[in-house]
Order: sequence, then structure tokens, then C-alpha cells
Amino acid sequence: MEKDESVITNYDLFSDNELDNTIRPETIDEYIGQNDVKENIKVFVKAAKMRNEPLDHVLLYGPPGLGKTTLAFIIAHELGTHIKTASGPSIEKSGDLAAILSSLEPGDVLFIDEIHRMPRYIEEILYPAMEDFSLDIIVGSEGNSRNIKIDLPPFTLVGATTRAGDLSAPLRDRFGIIDKLEYYTVDELTQIVKRTARVLNVAIDDDAAVELAKRSRGTPRIANRLFKRVRDFAMVDGNGTINIDVTERALARLKVDKMGLDSTDRELLSAIINKFNGGPVGIEAISSSIGEEVTTIEDVYEPFLLQQGLLKRTARGRVATDKAYKVLGIERK
Ligand SMILES: Nc1ncnc2c1ncn2[C@@H]1O[C@H](COP(=O)(O)OP(=O)(O)OP(=O)(O)O)[C@@H](O)[C@H]1O
Ligand SMILES: [Mg+2]
Repeated sequence: MEKDESVITNYDLFSDNELDNTIRPETIDEYIGQNDVKENIKVFVKAAKMRNEPLDHVLLYGPPGLGKTTLAFIIAHELGTHIKTASGPSIEKSGDLAAILSSLEPGDVLFIDEIHRMPRYIEEILYPAMEDFSLDIIVGSEGNSRNIKIDLPPFTLVGATTRAGDLSAPLRDRFGIIDKLEYYTVDELTQIVKRTARVLNVAIDDDAAVELAKRSRGTPRIANRLFKRVRDFAMVDGNGTINIDVTERALARLKVDKMGLDSTDRELLSAIINKFNGGPVGIEAISSSIGEEVTTIEDVYEPFLLQQGLLKRTARGRVATDKAYKVLGIERK
């Protein structure tokens, strides 16, 4: 769990972790936004329950912090089943996956986070498991090995990834339901901030909630994180109520600008403008110029900058838009 060191939080009643679990919505109706995804999932869950069959396998993809893990837990909740969780990079041996699969009960949800980082030979074990609920494993030693087939209980695999493009085609094709999570609107994030305030019993003014929402990069995780930091300022410098003044002050201290861009977002745009003449410039050059990994830029930073119209992707590389110049206050030469 990342900790923000810019403010002292040792008077927090909850650790960040406990707090995350308290504010994580549990039912699909508490889950704000992503309306198309939500409506579809409601129908598919209902139909699966009517047929008394497991829900088809679900792949959720989209930038970090938009609620993939939360939705996986909600799916299990709505199905009325248990959820077992694993993450792609942690499944190293075929036995790891076999153990997880054979521990499932009928109808359970198996959630695999970062599923694009699962080794290919593990993926291949998943194919028959997903398709026929069977586990094909090789037993015995070399020269004397044989295949055995083990029946698995019917289950639903929910996979989450920030990069659907990195999934192999055969794996992707085995998901019956594929949903992309989108950045949240200011209105949705305002509702999320207000809900968090309600759950944690903190008073927040309407205009302060809207301001926090505007500066959250379209991302609930960021909204909740900023909320916690602003709450700290409200407790220490104010009377505990989150009003617009304390919000503005706290966000300035945290160096989150009016659009919600953080220092890396701004650094990335200003590198393109100042060092590469506005582009087009290749992602590798940007990466070495600002010292962030290519994958981090592609998964975390770029999607929001693209969505906000600050950055464009062309065949020859990334280009800063007029809006980017304006936002950074740089004149185009
Ligand atoms: N639709 C929502 N309504 C209310 N709160 C939400 C919603 N989506 C996410 N959150 C909150 O945002 C936090 C981050 O969500 P979550 O951990 O599910 O994101 P994620 O997409 O799995 O991110 P990552 O890709 O980093 O794993 C959660 O703790 C949850 O409280
Ligand atoms: Mg997650």
C-alpha cells in the first residue's frame, strides 16, 4: 500500500488498508458509475442464477484504480458465492494453479489479477479448465509420465488486467464477457467522494466534494486517496469539516493541479514540448527522458492524457496537443 509521506497520518484511526476495505462497495447497486458494464453484469448474473449455471468467465480491463478488483468481489457477492483470489505473476508453477483450481467449490469465483502477467505454460492449463472444467496434468517422471484428467467444479474465472492487448488470443477468446472500465465523470466521482465521507462519518461540503472529484484523474482510488489527505488537513488545520478552503489548500500542498494532473503527468507533457518540440516522439525517448518505465507510461499516464485531449498518438509517435500547451502555460513556437 503506498503511503503519502507529505502529511503526518499517525492520528488516523484506520490504517490505509482497513480503510480501503471499509469504503469498498459490496453490492452492485453501491458501485457507482460504469453503468453499461453494471447493467450487463446484472443481467448475466441473473440469467446464470436462473439457469443454475456458473456465470460465464469475465475479463475486466482498464487503467489502474477504476474498480476492477472491487467489481470482481461484487460479482461473487451478487452470485452468492465465494471468491478466491490469485495474481498472474504469483502463479509460477503448474501445481500452484492446480491447487487453486481444485480447491474451488461449485459456482465459486476465481479472481486472477494482472492476468496478462501469467506465464504462458500456466495459461495452457487454464484453457481446458475454463472450457470443460477439467484439469489435464502430467504425472510421473520423464519417460514414465502420463496425462490424467481431473474434473473440476464449475466455476467463474474473473480476470483483471490493465493491458488487454497483452493477453494471448486463445486466452482472451475463452472469456464470454469482456468489459472495459472507463474513467469516471466528475459527477460520478462526486458521488463516490460523498459516499466515502458518509461511510467514514466525515462532514464534507458539496463544493469541496466536486472539487475533489475534478482533481481525481477520473479515478476512484485517487478520489479516495485525496479524500483521506484532505481529511487530515481538515482535522489538523480546521474543525474537521471538509470545506472548499481546506480542500484547495491541501490539494495545492499535494501538488495536484486544477485538472487533476500530478507532477508526472505534467513532467511527461513538458518533456514532449520542451525536449522534443511538441513531438512526434517515440515512447522510449519519453521514457528515458522522464525516468518512468514504458509500461507505466502506457498503462497509467497516457490513457488519461489521451482521454483529456492533452496527448495524441500518431504513427510517428506521441504529440502534445494545443490544449497541453495551454494547460502548461507554454507558448507554441
Ligand atoms: N464504482 C465505484 N464506486 C465506489 N468506489 C469505487 C468504485 N470503484 C472503485 N472504487 C474504490 O476505488 C478503490 C480502487 O478500486 P479497485 O482496487 O477495485 O481498482 P482496480 O481497478 O482493481 O485497480 P488496479 O488495476 O490497481 O488493481 C477501491 O478501494 C474502492 O473503494
Ligand atoms: Mg485491483
